[in-house]
Amino acid sequence: MSHLSSCQMRFLYKVLCVLAVVAMVVPLLTRLPHEPLTASFHSKATTEEPEFAIVVCRDKNDSEKDATGFQRQLRQISVLLKSAASLTSETLIFNIVADSYATYETVTNLTASWPAAYRERVVFDEFKEVFYPPGAEDMMNMFRLCATERLFLAQTFEDKDAVVFLDTDTLFLMPPENLWRKVYEFNPHQVIGIAPCLYMYGPRFKKFPTYGSSGLNAGVLVMNLTRLRAFEGGWTENIMHILDKYKTKLSLADQDILNILFSNKTTAKHLYELGCEWNYREKLCSKGRNKCKRAQQLGVGLLHGAALTFVNDKEQKFQAVFDAWERHQLGESEKALLASLRTTLRRQKRSQGCSRLHFIDKILLQGLENTLRGRH
Ligand SMILES: *[C@@H]1O[C@H](CO)[C@@H](O)[C@H](O)[C@H]1NC(C)=O
Ligand SMILES: *[C@@H]1O[C@H](CO)[C@@H](O)[C@H](O)[C@H]1NC(C)=O
Ligand SMILES: *[C@@H]1O[C@H](CO)[C@@H](O)[C@H](O)[C@H]1NC(C)=O
Ligand SMILES: *[C@@H]1O[C@H](CO)[C@@H](O)[C@H](O)[C@H]1NC(C)=O
Repeated sequence: MSHLSSCQMRFLYKVLCVLAVVAMVVPLLTRLPHEPLTASFHSKATTEEPEFAIVVCRDKNDSEKDATGFQRQLRQISVLLKSAASLTSETLIFNIVADSYATYETVTNLTASWPAAYRERVVFDEFKEVFYPPGAEDMMNMFRLCATERLFLAQTFEDKDAVVFLDTDTLFLMPPENLWRKVYEFNPHQVIGIAPCLYMYGPRFKKFPTYGSSGLNAGVLVMNLTRLRAFEGGWTENIMHILDKYKTKLSLADQDILNILFSNKTTAKHLYELGCEWNYREKLCSKGRNKCKRAQQLGVGLLHGAALTFVNDKEQKFQAVFDAWERHQLGESEKALLASLRTTLRRQKRSQGCSRLHFIDKILLQGLENTLRGRH
């Protein structure tokens, strides 16, 4: 090296430096796509904890004279939570939106006596008070108390990305996380997943325009809250506009409003049509005919006891499912629950309502059977 000039030395040094940097960077670049960085990003997106929300308000007048409404609601929530904890293999977050902290505490206390292994599967998020946008406070008393709150969950949970709203008269027959995962199936335009109503609304319904061929049922709402907050023209603004225009014609408040909103061709593309097996109601079988083919093929995922069908002694099939869950003691085998429910259903008379459908037992049992298959 002694006969190289200092200029040549400097050049050689630079070349060596560049080579060294290239030698360090190239393997790094080629390795990057396989690094745990991407793997953990991917798994984070799919292991997000399922989030559910229910709304509970206690009618002030209900307090002494008629506490039964609230007690019934607590029984139903208890069954909903029990079915969710029994059928999940994940940790579920439940958001309780309530009219007061006392109501919130009454609901979260429902799991206090559960065996720890089940209690840990249902985590309650902090208390959220029922929220109505300024000027919309009157909506609280439309239809049933607080029923319209579901329309404002994107503002109630300003920091959350997604949540599945459930009416309190619902129970699971398949894992709750399967319903939650529908939010990942949305195409980039879809903001909310709602199951078809399959009854009442439709071409012969003249009071106001409704979605699709049979409308929507608002009992289960799979919501991407981030997208709802960015809804074109404003989600709340759209709702308030519909309320203004159709106020005197609405009888089911929130459900009617959602039907009108998605009856518009422009807005309909933002709706993900949820499978009817995730919102199976008495009206889908009460004429002795099954209106939800998917429930026939896959079984029911979520049973909805709308219009008191879990408790009013009119629809024995639905009531049998509710009663089986209400009697079930967490910690005892879920297969025993299934066996006893199967026996009860088989013994029922087949004379009215959904009982007249000869394969109704299969519809009600199949989801649970498939979920419990392989369990001890
Ligand atoms: C509460 O009950 C009382 C007596 O039954 C009745 O007069 C009043 O209108 C009720 N208030 C509401 C808000 O329903
Ligand atoms: C909930 O449970 C706690 C602890 O067991 C009790 O102190 C509280 O009074 C209960 N609250 C309600 C509203 O039942
Ligand atoms: C909801 O939508 C936002 C905005 O498009 C998206 O970033 C987010 O991943 C979506 N959430 C879920 C759970 O799919
Ligand atoms: C449908 O929705 C779009 C966007 O919100 C609105 O501009 C249009 O006026 C609506 N059409 C009808 C018939 O309501």
